[in-house]
Amino acid sequence: MFEPSALSVAQRANVPPFQVMEVLSAANARQRVRGDVVSLAAGQPSSPAPSAVREAAAEALRRHPLGYTEQLGLPQLREAIAGHCARTYGLAADPAEVVATTGASGAFLLAFLSAFDPGDRVALARPGYPAYRNILAALGCEVVELPCDESTRFQPTTAMLEALDEPVRGLIVASPANPTGTVLTGDELAELASWCDRRGVQLISDEIYHGIEYGERLHSAREFSTEAIVVNSFSKLWCMTGWRLGWMLVPPRLRRAVDSLTGNFTLCPPAVSQHGAVAAFGAEVYAEVGEHVRRYETNRELLLTGLAELGIKRVAPADGAFYAYADIGELTDDSSAWCHRLLEETGVAVVPGVDFDPERGGRFVRMSYAGATEDIAEAVARLATWLR
Ligand SMILES: Cc1ncc(COP(=O)(O)O)c(C=O)c1O
Repeated sequence: MFEPSALSVAQRANVPPFQVMEVLSAANARQRVRGDVVSLAAGQPSSPAPSAVREAAAEALRRHPLGYTEQLGLPQLREAIAGHCARTYGLAADPAEVVATTGASGAFLLAFLSAFDPGDRVALARPGYPAYRNILAALGCEVVELPCDESTRFQPTTAMLEALDEPVRGLIVASPANPTGTVLTGDELAELASWCDRRGVQLISDEIYHGIEYGERLHSAREFSTEAIVVNSFSKLWCMTGWRLGWMLVPPRLRRAVDSLTGNFTLCPPAVSQHGAVAAFGAEVYAEVGEHVRRYETNRELLLTGLAELGIKRVAPADGAFYAYADIGELTDDSSAWCHRLLEETGVAVVPGVDFDPERGGRFVRMSYAGATEDIAEAVARLATWLR
């Protein structure tokens, strides 16, 4: 006899939800009723995909049956991505190492499944993007958090790895990182990559915010190691979060595994997005997204200056991405409650640090400056009135 009470939820699915979503729902609810929300909460650009990409996708909708594509992605897309890597990093990138994925998120799943077994220890920085630790935990890996602070610009170092009691099988780095926007210099990334290579540790480098950078040119982990897995995406620089398209550079050793896994999991990434993305590497597209990056840079200056004037000076050095990760420990040690109060009393939405850092996130907030410059100015003005 069927026993409904015997059904349960898999233990591995017991991952924490994003608390960010609570702030976003509260902001949406207020916007519906009062229409006065200024949001610095969402981790995505407010602009649409580049016009050439939208045009190519529209053309594909008109002309193609849009069935499944090759499971590793359209050959012309993989070639275009390899060309982008060659131009950006001076790499002799081979289209055979490029795998189109369902966003960077889909790439994480393929990377973790192909490189790690249940029980493997994988190191990553805290604070960091919560999906790394939650996906790893769901796959039965042991997450080894490396507590990071201003002293290393919130980035992991080889000294931290050397100090671990037990060896790790993998290391995940993100530069620029979410939530801090901080970057690894070329030398730092090279040192981490060679440390991993010497010890047989799988390096996974999340380069999703590449191109959104305000200082020295960023380097790809692939420049320093042919064994690193590089993850990237059209979501951020190209403003294509909802198109669900990313890519990874996969070392030869893992290609067969990734090929079989992706074929079984998703068959292929979204076809219409792939056809659109083939047009993402023209000069006019680089110019269009470059305009967005200049806006983020203006917004960043406005926000960081505004926060400093309000006495919020401990902000991670935001050399890339579009986030300011601010230490508000002098104002509160409960950033979730602080964010809810700020929203309720001013209509400004920012997110608490707790998703990114379950230990110390109570004293941090993340503010996204990917939106309109007027919104940043308005948010700073409201914050100033509120705090005074
Ligand atoms: C560091 C980082 N990696 C990956 C992702 C997920 O990106 P995608 O939309 O390509 O799945 C995000 C999204 O915010 C992110 O911040």
